[in-house]
Amino acid sequence: MFASVNSFGLFGLNAFPVQVEISLNRGMPRFDIVGLAGTAVQESRERIKSALRSCGIAIPSQTCIVNLAPADQHKNGSMNDLPILIALLMVMGHVQVSASAAMIGEVSLNGDVRRVNGVLPMTLLAKQKGLQTIYVPLDNAKEAAVVEGICVYGVSHISDLIRHLSGEDNLRPISRCGMESAALPNVPDFADVHGQTAAKYALELAAAGGHNALLIGPPGSGKSMLAKRMPGILPEMTFEEAIETTQIHSVAGLLDAEHPLVVTRPFRAPHHTISSAGLAGGGTIPHPGEISLAHNGLLFLDELAEFDRRTLEILRQPLEDREVTISRSAGTVRYPCSIMLIAAMNPCPCGYLGHPNRPCTCAPKAAANYLNRISGPLLDRFDLHIEAAPVTFQELTDTQKEEPSAEIRKRVLAARAIQQERFRGTSITCNARITPDKLSTFCPVTDRAKKRLKAVFENLGLSARAYDRLLKVARTSADLHHSEVIDESHIAEAVQYRTLDRKYWQVSGKQ
Ligand SMILES: Nc1ncnc2c1ncn2[C@@H]1O[C@H](COP(=O)(O)OP(=O)(O)O)[C@@H](O)[C@H]1O
Ligand SMILES: [Mg+2]
Repeated sequence: MFASVNSFGLFGLNAFPVQVEISLNRGMPRFDIVGLAGTAVQESRERIKSALRSCGIAIPSQTCIVNLAPADQHKNGSMNDLPILIALLMVMGHVQVSASAAMIGEVSLNGDVRRVNGVLPMTLLAKQKGLQTIYVPLDNAKEAAVVEGICVYGVSHISDLIRHLSGEDNLRPISRCGMESAALPNVPDFADVHGQTAAKYALELAAAGGHNALLIGPPGSGKSMLAKRMPGILPEMTFEEAIETTQIHSVAGLLDAEHPLVVTRPFRAPHHTISSAGLAGGGTIPHPGEISLAHNGLLFLDELAEFDRRTLEILRQPLEDREVTISRSAGTVRYPCSIMLIAAMNPCPCGYLGHPNRPCTCAPKAAANYLNRISGPLLDRFDLHIEAAPVTFQELTDTQKEEPSAEIRKRVLAARAIQQERFRGTSITCNARITPDKLSTFCPVTDRAKKRLKAVFENLGLSARAYDRLLKVARTSADLHHSEVIDESHIAEAVQYRTLDRKYWQVSGKQ
């Protein structure tokens, strides 16, 4: 006797189809699982036996072989528990499952169906394969219901599913979860930050063009405060972006059962003690790192100089490629990481290097050593170096209302609308993502601007990468000022944010 049920497996971000085949024959009582099944899958035998026993169903004393096809692909995780259990009931003649249905879920010893990771990519694949129904754990049901055009059932206990499949029809399909079903974000407002007008404008520039930014300044000047307010001025995610980001959070098991779709741009702020694998992704079964969890949003590295230098250097390649590649014997996993990097740091260990009225008390060379933890190539990847000057008493106690995030966001959105028009028909999403071959097309400069650029390039000794980034920031500045071409003033504005590295990195070098 033979039966088969559709299911899925997961490798990295990619779901793949798994056909759960089962045969029940006369012979020694056995229950074996074959098909490159990992430990978690092998252990599912015990869970299934116990779960069935809890429903009063005994496993037949016959030879039962489960094959997970394709047999040459590694399977891991517990998501095949439910289809194996149902396939067993099918071969025993208890239930019928349509060939156009699939199921995933972990089964507990008492028959509860537990949530698993990666339900969204698996449901997307089910839809793509033309399947009509998918049974998932109830806790994952809203996540699966993000996918349009497939009927989703949430199962909380195997007995519910058994009754449903035997024709009782007791389960109701879950209604679709679109963008509107998301939880409202609770983001702090720029209006709380007194003064810091220049830094706020620089962050507006960063948000408008999707640029990476580094905030430098003395302790307590509001660097962390400013960075945490960035999500409030960024444009909303599109549905496609939301699906991309949600898939990564799905395989990492981070989704909220009630509001599964990630609709607000992620803001990830890992602590500086994080490992390389935690930041970039890794592990025996490769998991996404913070940089990928921030996909389509922000990665905020506070106290940048305190991070392990090697950990930071690992970010360099992914920041350019917008993708992390992890190779393992079982295959290569790619996690996207299209992010805006925002970092904050003090200029030296005591924090007061370059302070207008407080002396730096660091030992000679201490400041240089501190700043040197950030390598030149990494520094180059920050389009904007922003100085957060100390807040004055006057600014702090001023009762005048500061501009709220909503106002800043309006200007950001206007600049983004110009970019959307400009990049129509290309894969470019914002100024920071202009590819080198398109730089001259999208960044036309006036003659005066060109002269200024030449002088800046020579005086500051810019690298080719820094030059490209400077031009892109100038492009964003022109967009914020609604100017078609890039003029001298826009170049001047962009240059302002490339001079801090000279100020601190050179001052410290002379100590
Ligand atoms: N510009 C500012 N306006 C209002 N409060 C501020 C400002 N700067 C700092 N603060 C206060 O100081 C605290 C510390 O600021 P923080 O952003 O952590 O500083 P930094 O990261 O630069 O060391 C904030 O929580 C806030 O209460
Ligand atoms: Mg801070």
